[in-house]
Amino acid sequence: MEKLLDLISRQVSEAFAAAGYDPAYGRVTVSNRPDLCEYQCNGCLSAAKVYHCAPMVIAQAVAEKLDRGNFDLVEAVKPGFLNLNISGAFLQSYLEAMRTAPDFGVEKTGLGKTVVVDYGGPNVAKPLHIGHLRSAIIGESMKRLYSFFGYHAIGDVHLGDWGLQMGLIIAGLREKEPDLPYFDPDFTGDYPAEAPFTLSELEEIYPAASARKKVDPEFGERAHQATFELQQGRRGYRALWRYIMNVSLADIRRIYDQLDVHFESWLGESDADPFIPAMLERLKASGCAVESEGALVFPVAEPGDKKEMPPCILVKSDGAVLYDTTELATMVQRMQDFAPDKILYLADKRQSLHFEQVFRAARKSGIVKPETELEFLGFGTMNGPDGKPFKTRDGGVMRLERLIADIMAFVGKKVEENRIVAPEDAPATTKIIAMAALKYGDLSNQPTKDYVFDMDRFAAFEGNTGPYLLYTTVRVKSILSKFGAWEDLPIRAPASPAQKDLMRVLARFCPALEGALSASCPSVLCAYLYDLAGAVNHFYHETRILDQEDKGLQAGSIALIGLAKRVLEQGMDLLGFTAPEKM
Ligand code: ARG
Repeated sequence: MEKLLDLISRQVSEAFAAAGYDPAYGRVTVSNRPDLCEYQCNGCLSAAKVYHCAPMVIAQAVAEKLDRGNFDLVEAVKPGFLNLNISGAFLQSYLEAMRTAPDFGVEKTGLGKTVVVDYGGPNVAKPLHIGHLRSAIIGESMKRLYSFFGYHAIGDVHLGDWGLQMGLIIAGLREKEPDLPYFDPDFTGDYPAEAPFTLSELEEIYPAASARKKVDPEFGERAHQATFELQQGRRGYRALWRYIMNVSLADIRRIYDQLDVHFESWLGESDADPFIPAMLERLKASGCAVESEGALVFPVAEPGDKKEMPPCILVKSDGAVLYDTTELATMVQRMQDFAPDKILYLADKRQSLHFEQVFRAARKSGIVKPETELEFLGFGTMNGPDGKPFKTRDGGVMRLERLIADIMAFVGKKVEENRIVAPEDAPATTKIIAMAALKYGDLSNQPTKDYVFDMDRFAAFEGNTGPYLLYTTVRVKSILSKFGAWEDLPIRAPASPAQKDLMRVLARFCPALEGALSASCPSVLCAYLYDLAGAVNHFYHETRILDQEDKGLQAGSIALIGLAKRVLEQGMDLLGFTAPEKM
């Protein structure tokens, strides 16, 4: 559907043309003086310079050509502005078209296109920590937005499962239990199905090994060697790797499920491994990759660089492959499997150099076809109240699971104290509200900015919060269910200023979605939904709805809040949460 602002601009442009002026001057914007008018056109001022006449002359001529059926107010004001209010009938027919169109008439710009959204990025065998929260939440929302616009959107979790942490665990386990068959190079029998460790044991081995490496270089050496041998395919190590994967992945999946974050593809760095040898051969043959001090590197610096641009390191002198290597090989795999039009990567913004390097390498080598867009969406840090990265009380890294549990407990208490729902419904309602609080608290910030995690504020039922959107939606749902069948009622012309305001906000839904998508910024959608909730609540306070005797007026109100409910629900779904039945 054409955007309302474009539709109005088109009419004003046609009026310019009808009055004998260039239609290009007809661009209309939302008024910056809402007390005077809804929309304005400033084109007469620029046109006057070209046509050598007073701007007012043009403004008046254009005003005369505008169709009064579509405008309640058409006013030429000094020195040559056009002030406009659209008519109720115009707004009514626009919203009725939006109400009856599939997906609110959004333009499906992604049809036939594929986008891979690389998000989540958990590291196997390390517990998910809050650094992974933003990736999961923002990535999920971006993926849902892409789908909504018609893209074939593939969310890929891109597990960190091929790096040194695996070697550290293997080396750590060997210290503890050197006699396990996995460490015996001559062992040829079958390995047991059961892992030789539990999840909690695994979660102890990794930090211990990682700490040990810092003080014991010889141990570090063994971990590097184990990483290399794992990558080379040493049988016992591959077996251990599979155990680590199974144990750890079950836990990772469980936490993403809690967050209602879902991936179409569960591939990891290790899945890129089969693509590495051929890729390296190609890069060497084309001269992209060169030997440097025993390592294989891919220089990506360019003459105009303002900052240092180190080469991608593909193979270390000890033979192991690295993050850059698996990154590029993953691109090879994605191009082969999906030939995507775009790959969107989410990671901490401190990884921006890595992505700059590999994007350059991908272009230079032709691993990614020129038409495929590569975008890195680097997000800022979630900080604690002290403005420093969020920590546990004793200063440790906050586990994601712990953070989720904390916010659930906090919301749970509120639900219980305020007797929001019957006791048996409390756990489900708590989960829904907690997710809205957590996700909106994050998404309402620009991804690139740091923000402060503030449970009190995020979980408040009033203000710019997720629960406020839920509360508004629940209120509307309750009116609708008291009214009865509302789904087929057509939109009517506004009967009050509050109703017209709500209608104009509703008409901005699709432009807000486009803005969020094109800027990779779900906060644009958050800001829109907050405006919408405000307009809905204002309308509700100003209007008699259920006890309205005039059935025509009532039907108009109901149809409008019915559309508002659908838009709120759709918008929240694109952010990754839903509203409860009661609240
Ligand atoms: N596993 C990485 C980390 O924890 C994030 C992965 C991001 N995605 C990527 N394709 N590099 O930092």
